[in-house]
Amino acid sequence: MPKQISLGVFEMMNPNNGMPTWTHPLGKGDRYDSVEYWVEVARMLDAADVDFLFFADTYGYATIDGAMPDLVAAHGIQFPGFDPMLLISALARETDRLGFVLTSPTTVERPYATARRFATLDHYTAGRIGWNVVTGSSQATTDDLFGVADSGTHDSRYDVADEFVDVCLELWEGVWEDDALVRDPSRNLFVDPAKLHPIAHRGTHFASSGVFAIPPGPQRSPVLFQAGTSARGRAFAARNAEAVLIQGQSIPKAREHVDDIRAQAVAHGRSPDDVKVVTGVTITVAPTHDEAVALRTELEGLYAVEDAAVIFAGFTGVDLSAFDPSEPLTAIASDQGQTLVDRFVRPGQPVPTVGDVLGDFRLRANRGFQITGDPAEVADELQAIVEGTGIDGIMLEPTFGGPEAFEAFIDLVQPILRDRGLLPATRSASEPTLRERVTGAGTPHLPSAHPGARFRTF
Ligand SMILES: Cc1cc2nc3c(=O)[nH]c(=O)nc-3n(C[C@H](O)[C@H](O)[C@H](O)COP(=O)(O)O)c2cc1C
Repeated sequence: MPKQISLGVFEMMNPNNGMPTWTHPLGKGDRYDSVEYWVEVARMLDAADVDFLFFADTYGYATIDGAMPDLVAAHGIQFPGFDPMLLISALARETDRLGFVLTSPTTVERPYATARRFATLDHYTAGRIGWNVVTGSSQATTDDLFGVADSGTHDSRYDVADEFVDVCLELWEGVWEDDALVRDPSRNLFVDPAKLHPIAHRGTHFASSGVFAIPPGPQRSPVLFQAGTSARGRAFAARNAEAVLIQGQSIPKAREHVDDIRAQAVAHGRSPDDVKVVTGVTITVAPTHDEAVALRTELEGLYAVEDAAVIFAGFTGVDLSAFDPSEPLTAIASDQGQTLVDRFVRPGQPVPTVGDVLGDFRLRANRGFQITGDPAEVADELQAIVEGTGIDGIMLEPTFGGPEAFEAFIDLVQPILRDRGLLPATRSASEPTLRERVTGAGTPHLPSAHPGARFRTF
């Protein structure tokens, strides 16, 4: 029996999730600013038993030499953008089982503020909330917007993130005993003060002391996600993440990352299974092979090299349009996102030209496996990816920008994956927490092998 995988969806609250496609009749991404639009999407995903809706998010946008290229605004390239966190309680109210994963960077606010929001959402979503911990793409822009003189180097931002997550975990796991909340009018006792344990954190980057003002929700701590496969990113994931989001490019490379993250998790006293890995997949499916290829060709027709160069710069800080396309891309260093650089510049591999990189990035952008075909072909390729990489889940990436890619998958491919046992045969009636759904842990709470469990001192 093949491994059963989790199923997520990748979204962003802007007109184009990735490559500008909103001009196409199928592109509905420009409805991103409508609550009703997202309620429709969430209800559709919930009915189809999708495990989670992930919202990527960033305070920044692509800049080159500190300025926003006109194309960003003109083509709506991950701009403008709303705050997805403010939408979640509305979506949770309209759904029963769908989980929500939100990105929140560790480079903008203090840990207490982040801990407070996720604890509140743990209550409002009945335990269906996850936190994608990022040190932030388009960091340079965010620094300018927040007036941060220096947010450190790529790796030092992960050091700060380790401590940031620790403070949040201490607030969620280490303050309230399970029965501290009494709410007994006859005893005029709302909370038993003897069952509250103030924290007194004084670290290298943060200090936080006092009582966390939010009682534990169903999960206490949101499910911890992470997205970044640089060496330092993987080390961070191995220590902190319960689920890692990758954008697999090839089965061998994804396998290498999966094995490395798991090996490092074991070094942290965790079991390899304690870290689930979910890859992004961009699927173009239609009843016949030719129809799918025609749809994909139509989609690619919308992708412009100029837009690709702007998006690449947004993630890496490197403006490829400043180079001669025939120039070999010997070495580019990025203090922003390294995953993307590592994708093209690999020791012992032939050096691509700037034109090669832009040509590839135009078609794949910052996305995962690109799969096009009829339903059986798509199911076969997904099964090969699951078996070849050891991943635990897939996350559908939009194509034209609206929910059409998800609907096509749900109608055409999901039934095949159910028959093959890769997805649950039926939609269960139970309403588990996100942690139970994504990690398969039999408990809504952080597993005892997670470093955050050390804060449970009572
Ligand atoms: C699936 C996926 C989702 C991501 N979502 C976000 C996001 O929402 N916000 C963000 O700032 N960065 C996001 N990133 C980028 C990462 O935070 C990170 O900058 C990037 O992966 C590079 O990490 P690295 O330098 O450790 O390789 C995402 C990356 C991946 C793979």
